[in-house]
Amino acid sequence: MNYFNYRNGILHAEEVSLDRLADDVGTPFYCYSTAILKHNFQILQDAVSDLDTIICFSIKANSNIAVIKTLATYGAGADVVSEGELRRAITAGIPSERIVFSGVGKTRRELEFAVDNNILQINVESESELEDLNAVALARGSFVKIGLRINPDINVNTHEKITTGRKENKFGIEWPRNLQILRNINDLPNIEVVSIAIHIGSQLTDLQFFRDSFKYLRNFVLMLRDEGIFIKRLDLGGGLGISYDDSTTIPTPVDYVEIIRENLGDLGCHLILEPGRMLVADAGLLVSRVIHVKQGTTRNFIICDAAMNDLVRPAMYEAYHEILPVIKPAVGHKKCLTDVVGPICESSDTFAKQRLLPPFVRNDLLVFVTTGAYGSSMASTYNSRQLIPEVLVKKNQFSIVRTRPTYENMLMMESFPPWL
Ligand code: LLP
Repeated sequence: MNYFNYRNGILHAEEVSLDRLADDVGTPFYCYSTAILKHNFQILQDAVSDLDTIICFSIKANSNIAVIKTLATYGAGADVVSEGELRRAITAGIPSERIVFSGVGKTRRELEFAVDNNILQINVESESELEDLNAVALARGSFVKIGLRINPDINVNTHEKITTGRKENKFGIEWPRNLQILRNINDLPNIEVVSIAIHIGSQLTDLQFFRDSFKYLRNFVLMLRDEGIFIKRLDLGGGLGISYDDSTTIPTPVDYVEIIRENLGDLGCHLILEPGRMLVADAGLLVSRVIHVKQGTTRNFIICDAAMNDLVRPAMYEAYHEILPVIKPAVGHKKCLTDVVGPICESSDTFAKQRLLPPFVRNDLLVFVTTGAYGSSMASTYNSRQLIPEVLVKKNQFSIVRTRPTYENMLMMESFPPWL
């Protein structure tokens, strides 16, 4: 389902012309479609309708509070990894009993904040975190429900920087330390282990890895039952990949849920899913304007006003994002090999190399497609550039859901020491 379409030769987000939006908002900016968010959430929701499941949107993928709130209205909970994200989830109206807190390095303060907000579960990833959490709970006279994240040592074929389930990765607790912890859990009277959590990586396009990891989880849970340890909830993480270039066949959410059902459906456990990318990636575009076109001897450069600080995925993971013109090029136009780059002062500020694109001239608008996930949420202010606005569209309406800070806003946060 695509809600980004050309109408009368102009690319629209639902019923809003991106040309007009660019004039109103100024470029660069992110634009999200409510209809796509809804569609993505409902497909997954329908697929799990016969399983006792809560879908906790992994808000690291897109942490705009309007996006979170949109998904919350369809029934999403949240998977958060910092106090900042937890505050965003609460602000967006996600009930605390639908929030999971993951991450390897939660500080004492973050644990206190999570305990005080009585969230669904805190996923613990080390023994020292467990001790911290027990101390926090003890000090408050409360009991804390945790998930123990295990590391299954499963290798997956995604970008090396986004694998998380191997022994070499910092995540989760390995066998047999995880079993020992569970055996000794009664030594920590304020902790109750309600869940086992697993997450092996992101942008996974081969279901076999999920099959392996869910089988591993199944055997682990059954082995615990033999020991008299009963786990009532399983947190299956996120990771289902999406199509960035139409060349890879991507398993559908229905295929993915079928793997869950096959391997874990009969265990009688409540399930948590933590999807990020698959809910928001194709719901977002990055809209940018061409500043200059420069002809080199070997390259043809388009220098646009978006840069790696706005969208770091190409520089960081060699990620591919399709590039489209906002105004449809004339029939019969000639495409040429082009490098699309941003204004930042390093060569890694490159969105596309030797890409066959229609001709662009100064001031033309272009979009980077499938940038709703890990786009704005990974942005920085490198080169002292402003964070860019985010716009949410619904049918013929649009709203600026994050404004561009002024340079005064940015400078206000810094000061001179008394000796200068
Ligand atoms: N749960 C946990 C514990 C995670 O670490 C992640 C992602 C998710 C869920 C959501 O995974 P997803 O469904 O989005 O694949 N910045 C990278 C992706 C990093 C993913 C980190 N963890 C990128 O732009 O590709």
